[in-house]
Amino acid sequence: MKNLLLFLIINIISQLSLASNLMFWQEGEPVPENGFQNPYNLTSDQLNESVRRGRIHALQYPVSITGLIIPLDPVNNFFNNTNEDDPLKKLFRKLGLAFAKMNSLEDLMKWLGLHTFPDESIDDPVYGIPYPEGKKPNYRMGFSFMEHNGAKGFTISCAVCHSNNLFGKKILGLTNRFPRANMFFVKGKSAVTAAPTSIFKWLTDATSNEKKMFARTKENINSVQAKKPIQLGLDTSLAHVALSLAHRREDAYATKDYWSYKEPREEDLAWIPSESKPGVWWNVKYKNKWLLDGSVISGNPILTNLLWNEIGRGSDLKELEQWFIDYTDIVRDLTNAVYHNEAPHFTDFFSAKNHFDFGALKEGQKLYNNMCAKCHGRYLKKWDLPDAHQLTFNEQLKTYKVIMPENTKVVDVGTDAFRFKAMKSLKQLNHLAISSNNNIQIKVQKGYVPPPLVGIWARWPYFHNNSVPSLCDVLSPSAERPKKYWAGEALDKNTDFNKVCNGYPRGDATPLSWQQNKEFLYNTNHRGKSNQGHDERIFIKNGKNILSTHQKMALVQFLQTL
Ligand code: HEC
Ligand code: HEC
Repeated sequence: MKNLLLFLIINIISQLSLASNLMFWQEGEPVPENGFQNPYNLTSDQLNESVRRGRIHALQYPVSITGLIIPLDPVNNFFNNTNEDDPLKKLFRKLGLAFAKMNSLEDLMKWLGLHTFPDESIDDPVYGIPYPEGKKPNYRMGFSFMEHNGAKGFTISCAVCHSNNLFGKKILGLTNRFPRANMFFVKGKSAVTAAPTSIFKWLTDATSNEKKMFARTKENINSVQAKKPIQLGLDTSLAHVALSLAHRREDAYATKDYWSYKEPREEDLAWIPSESKPGVWWNVKYKNKWLLDGSVISGNPILTNLLWNEIGRGSDLKELEQWFIDYTDIVRDLTNAVYHNEAPHFTDFFSAKNHFDFGALKEGQKLYNNMCAKCHGRYLKKWDLPDAHQLTFNEQLKTYKVIMPENTKVVDVGTDAFRFKAMKSLKQLNHLAISSNNNIQIKVQKGYVPPPLVGIWARWPYFHNNSVPSLCDVLSPSAERPKKYWAGEALDKNTDFNKVCNGYPRGDATPLSWQQNKEFLYNTNHRGKSNQGHDERIFIKNGKNILSTHQKMALVQFLQTL
């Protein structure tokens, strides 16, 4: 009896300490109703302050030891120099570099696909975007300044890929539909490698600290290999990490040295597509496995992202490991910013009364609960509450509880497999000391996470590879989905969005301006861009589509309220 008691006590103590060590960032830790709202159990004041600081870190890249920082003033001088015979400009033109044609930093930021800050900075889980220096910045979201060893430089931040303009409202955490971050690294590497440090000083009047900054970046970029995406809007970060690791030694800290970057190891992702879109931040709290395929099964997902960003920037991983220890508060703030992120509501943009119909919504809800909830979770609606009649129309449309599967699912529903197969190349990350010391673990999966559908209306185009332009098309058999479609920015809600089908306007409704640039044409016939799957056994049974057009439209309406 005594022994049993002792055994029980020891068991409980060891489980408690395990739980506090690992926190909840691991597969198997049950996802609570409404997700992990407050990962560090802060008071609401502490949380709000932390989120605010975290949002600033998402805009102004916080990792002070980062490998690639470009001296600011010399680049400004380079742009402002209108002399067409400037040798550096001539050299860049010859290399076909986009930078040769630019006349200002503003041109560079536009080319990068960055959006301006909102005119007003409010405190809000959806639309809150702080001004890093207290007043509206004259640069764009995602462009980031950094002081390093007495020189002022710039780099890019999380917001490059994870912020957007939705019909005039700026949203942090919403995927940028058209960032050129990958091309920034591809072109940047050519530019930095081509420009000799000596010429750089002579041509741009750089100070000695700026020259040192440039030389450091030039050295680090040797250990970086970026890749052009197969489509504007898809991202090659996985390939970028794997290819960059192949330029470093295979030891526990992926040490950088001359021979490793001169003769990099072969890496399949150099030619095999592995693209995906950046995921929305408001979904992270509903999962216990991260990335679109759920392949990160343990470790704080924000710290994991920082690590991958830094491998992609040629940083020293011992320095990074120390930075993680010295700046746990920054990692915590950024984590809170992501976990506190919320989705925009359809009704913030469109009049609900002219669009929604309770008959259709309730029909859609029933279909959803029968056909979709087992994978995508359940969304309890206020219109079902006993006192619903006392609420306004818009209020009744809201969700009051999100119940995702306790253990995040990964399912192969026949969508393009290139992205999840690519994780094989990233398994090498498990061997890094910085991964194991931070409990980061990758497990190759077969399929993708059925994503939480919160704010799904705002996330077109659909699937991990953007292959389906609207919700109507997601709910159509793949043979009937468009083989090609034109994409464009969400600037004007009347012309740039089809609110009935929820997605890009098509056919005659496609804005002419979008059709000027082939980069915005999506062709599903290419490798990695297939629009197949997610129909058999979901709404196609025994080869027959069980959804009528009427039912499909009811489902779309329901989805628009999530
Ligand atoms: C170059 C573009 C890019 C930048 C910069 C970037 N990300 Fe991402 N992010 C992505 C892509 C692409 C994915 C999805 C990858 C996948 O799962 O296929 C992603 C996924 C994520 C996820 C996981 C989402 C989920 O549902 O599991 C989080 C969290 C995240 N990023 C946070 C960050 C943070 C924090 C930063 C800054 C330190 C950052 N990202 C910088 C492109 C980017
Ligand atoms: C068997 C599990 C399963 C069922 C059932 C299912 N889905 Fe999915 N769904 C998935 C998976 C997995 C993905 C991710 C596919 C990808 O990105 O390649 C997905 C993706 C989606 C997306 C796109 C998400 C995005 O962010 O791009 C939508 C919308 C969607 N499903 C709606 C539905 C609806 C509506 C139903 C019911 C008619 C349904 N799903 C039933 C597994 C399922």
